[in-house]
Amino acid sequence: MGKKIRIGMAGCGVVGGGVIELLSRNAGLIERRLGTVPEVTRIAVRHPDRVRTLSEAARNATFTTDPLALVDDPEVDLVVEVMGGLEPAGSLLRRALEAGKPVVTANKALLAEQGTALLDLAEQRHTDLYFEAAVAGGIPIIRVLREGLSADRVLRLRGIVNGTSNYILSRMSREGMSFEEALTAAQAAGFAEADPTLDVGGGDAAHKLAILASLAFGVHVDLSRIPTVGITDISAGDHDIAQGFGYVIKHLARAATTESGELELSVEPMLVAKESGLANIHGAMNAIEVESLGLGSSLLAGPGAGSLPTAMSVVSDVIDVSRNLQAGAQGRVPPRAYPTDAMEGASIARRDDAWARAYLRFEVEDRPGVLGFLATRLGEESVSIERMVQRRGAGDPEHRASVVMLTHRANLGAVTRALRTVSERKDLVFSAKALRIESSDSP
Ligand SMILES: NC(=O)c1ccc[n+]([C@@H]2O[C@H](COP(=O)([O-])OP(=O)(O)OC[C@H]3O[C@@H](n4cnc5c(N)ncnc54)[C@H](OP(=O)(O)O)[C@@H]3O)[C@@H](O)[C@H]2O)c1
Repeated sequence: MGKKIRIGMAGCGVVGGGVIELLSRNAGLIERRLGTVPEVTRIAVRHPDRVRTLSEAARNATFTTDPLALVDDPEVDLVVEVMGGLEPAGSLLRRALEAGKPVVTANKALLAEQGTALLDLAEQRHTDLYFEAAVAGGIPIIRVLREGLSADRVLRLRGIVNGTSNYILSRMSREGMSFEEALTAAQAAGFAEADPTLDVGGGDAAHKLAILASLAFGVHVDLSRIPTVGITDISAGDHDIAQGFGYVIKHLARAATTESGELELSVEPMLVAKESGLANIHGAMNAIEVESLGLGSSLLAGPGAGSLPTAMSVVSDVIDVSRNLQAGAQGRVPPRAYPTDAMEGASIARRDDAWARAYLRFEVEDRPGVLGFLATRLGEESVSIERMVQRRGAGDPEHRASVVMLTHRANLGAVTRALRTVSERKDLVFSAKALRIESSDSP
């Protein structure tokens, strides 16, 4: 029999309900693994009078409307924060960590805003702060980066870490929907918020990339330095053309080391080969592919949200933290994989210095000389074309056409400059866009 563990849980909604259900349904195996089944003894909610069906693991729980009271309660050994929002969640975490009470949280928004300060505090107080559920929901990527790969050097990671964007892109590419139709479908299916900006604009993925890159590379990542492009500019036509070339368009969060030791970071829609692992992650699923020196390429995929998948991550964290409490070994694993004094400032590569193949799409006046004009301008920037198609969309006027080019490996700064000069000829070129083609080779 292991030491009894009593949980004070802030929030009892989608994730909190899942935590109680999982602790109850898996009680037998958790007891075999931990020597005890953690019990939820206190629950903080906003509406304590709401009728809730609580299973075994919370049968004796009492309710409060004051989350901060969980910290001072002698009947609480660890705090699980699954209420969301910045406040009072931020105050709750600070108070718990100050008091040396370990915390498990699923709160991605709070970590994005205050993660650095909270992780510093946890380390200073030798208190555990676990947050597996805050990145890619049910996928255990934090534990993999923090512990599973602790002997390895990560070279590159690429992830589909926003289920909403992936759901939209999947419906567009598989069913030919427009962005607007796919967004409406995502909202109807409960996969997108009424205001989807943070998801489709890439902000949410950038938050997660900052956490993942920090763990993978042992560096402080300034969110504002992650070039972030959303998916709103991707059309059904882009998907169709990309597929014709053997690619799928995915919204990827990407971090990779360069030969000169800099770190390339970005969130943007990219083309990935049809047969690659990431191309085959559909709907609201998440996936993260890690390329590391010893292991090579590995891919973790699974639900990035939902009651039981997210609760699975929370309860696994609870078990880890409970083991540390039982062993009197809180703070054993640095919350960021590296102790703070071993963290470095990230030397982030300028986006314009990156090299990659690119997909270029121009909407042009369909008349002689236009192709030559495009090729000349690209050639002036040393961007060389590997493949090209010209086509007219179903509803396009007679005199308009789409010209799509795949380039050889090119400097992305040069590609941007070429597109800028091309776009100056407004009589010939109505729009120009470039997407990175992500290679499946080593970084
Ligand atoms: N849902 C997912 O799939 C998912 C996936 C990954 C991460 N997360 C994260 O998990 C957290 C919880 O999400 P959720 O979907 O479970 O939210 P939810 O269903 O809205 O539940 C929120 C819970 O917190 C309680 N609450 C909210 N504000 C409170 C306050 N000021 N004081 C006391 N209680 C308060 C609510 O009480 P009442 O019940 O009385 O209203 C409710 O029980 C968020 O940080 C979210 O980002 C969720």
